[in-house]
Amino acid sequence: MEIFHIGAECYPVAKVGGLADVLGSLPKYQNSENYQVRVVIPCYQNIFRLENEFECVHWGKIKLGNFNFPFSVLKETTNKLGFELYLIEIPELFDRPNIYNYEDDIERFLSFQIATLDWIIGRNSLPDIIHCHDHHTGLIPFMKKYCPKYHKLKNINTLITIHNGLYQGIFSFNKLYYLPEFDLIHIKEIERWNCINSLSAGIKCADEVTTVSPTYLKELNYSDNGLETLLQSVQFKSKGILNGIDTDVWDTNKDKMLDCNFTVENSAEGKYKNKEKLCLQFNMNPMLPLFSFIGRLYNEKGADLLPEIILTSLIKQKKQINILILGYGDPVIENQLLELKPIFKGNYNVYIGYNEELAHKTYASSDYILIPSRVEPCGLNQLYALRYGTIPIVHKTGGLKDTIVDFEENGNGICHQESTVSDVCCAINRALDLYKNKDKFTKIRKKGMHTDHSWKNISQEYLQLYNLIITRRYEN
Ligand code: GLC
Repeated sequence: MEIFHIGAECYPVAKVGGLADVLGSLPKYQNSENYQVRVVIPCYQNIFRLENEFECVHWGKIKLGNFNFPFSVLKETTNKLGFELYLIEIPELFDRPNIYNYEDDIERFLSFQIATLDWIIGRNSLPDIIHCHDHHTGLIPFMKKYCPKYHKLKNINTLITIHNGLYQGIFSFNKLYYLPEFDLIHIKEIERWNCINSLSAGIKCADEVTTVSPTYLKELNYSDNGLETLLQSVQFKSKGILNGIDTDVWDTNKDKMLDCNFTVENSAEGKYKNKEKLCLQFNMNPMLPLFSFIGRLYNEKGADLLPEIILTSLIKQKKQINILILGYGDPVIENQLLELKPIFKGNYNVYIGYNEELAHKTYASSDYILIPSRVEPCGLNQLYALRYGTIPIVHKTGGLKDTIVDFEENGNGICHQESTVSDVCCAINRALDLYKNKDKFTKIRKKGMHTDHSWKNISQEYLQLYNLIITRRYEN
C-alpha cells in the first residue's frame, strides 16, 4: 500500500510546532515492506534544503486564477529520514525562510495543494491513501472529489488529521477562481459561515477524520470552537488517535544533544549532571527544583499566564525554585518575560527563540514542566518530558487529559482543573511538597520514564484505519 502524508511541516526539514514532529516520525514507523510511505511538504528556503541532496522528479506549471507558477518536485536522495521525502518547490511563493505568516499564505498553500495533486496524477502509479494534515491540505479531499481535472484520483481514499482546529485556512469567495474548475453544485462543501474554509472542506470531503487525541475530538464536538456542529455530523467517520513520539530521537541514553546520557536506573544522577550545566548557562542554582516551560508563546498555550505565574510563585516560594522559559511568539508576552529577567536574576531566565538542542537539554535537566495550555489537541511536550524524567504539570484538557493522571490518583504527573494563574501556582505548591518527599518523587519520575508512548504501537492504529476505509469503499 502506498501512502502519501501531505502537510506544511516535517521535522527536521521544517518545524514550527508538534505537527512537524508527527510528520517526521509517524511515517518512519509506518514504512515497511507492505506500506510505502512518502511525505510531501513545500520547499522552504531553509538549512535542510541547502545542506541536502535532491533530485528533481517532476516539473510543471500551475494555474492559480490569472497567475501561473512554475513548480518542481524534489526528492531527497538518501531516504535518511526513514521515508521518501518530496519537496514541492514553487520559487515565487516558498523561496522564503519562514513557514507561515506571509500575506499570501492562502495563495501559497493553495498552490502547494494544487501542485501536489498535479504531480500525483502524472505519476505512473497512484497512491492508495492520501493522508492530509491540518487546514493547509484541507482542500485536497475536495479537489480530488469534485474537480474533473483530478478525476483520475477518484478511487483514492483520503484522511484528514486535525492537529489544531483553531486554524482553519479561511478566505473569501473572491478567491474562488483560484480553485481548479468544479461544478458549483458542490460549493457547500467548501463553504462555512459565508467563506471558503479549508479545514471544514477537508472534514466534509475526506473519507475519515482523525484528531490527535480522543479527548480533543470530544472537545471539538461540544465546545465553542466553530466546528462543533460540523464534527457532530461526521461522527460516523471520525476517530481520536493519540500521537506517539519518536523514541529513537527521544532517548536519554543515546541523545547526542545532552551533556550527559542516562537511563531510568541512574536518572537522578544523570539528570542532575545535565541540570548543573544548564543552570550554569542560565545563572541558576542547580540545588533548587527547576520548573520549565517549552513552547510557542501564545494565549492558546496559556503563555500569557506565565509572567504572573513567575512573579507570584517566585515571591511566594521565597526564591526557593528556578523557572526557565524557552519559546517565542507573541511579542507582548516575549517582552513581559524579558522584563522579569533582571528582577529575578538567579532564579529565573528566558530564552526567546526556537532551539531544538536547548529543548532536549531542558527536558533532561528539569524537575517539572509547566503546560498550562487552554487548548491542547495532543501535546507532545508532556510525552517528551515523561520520557526524560521530568514530571508534567498540566491543565486537564485535550491530549494532556488523555496522557497525564495526577499522582494523588496513582498517576504520572500533576493536573490542575483550570488554566489560571492561581491553579498553576497551587500545582507548583503541590509539586514542591512532592519534591521534598524524595522517594515518592523518584517513584513518579521513574513511572513516567517507563511509560511507552512510542509510535511503534500507535502507528498501527492508522494503518488499520487506512485498511478499514479502503474496505469500506469496496463494500459501498
Ligand atoms: C499541534 C497541536 C499539538 C499537537 C501537535 C501534533 O501543534 O497544538 O497539541 O501535539 O499539533 O499533533
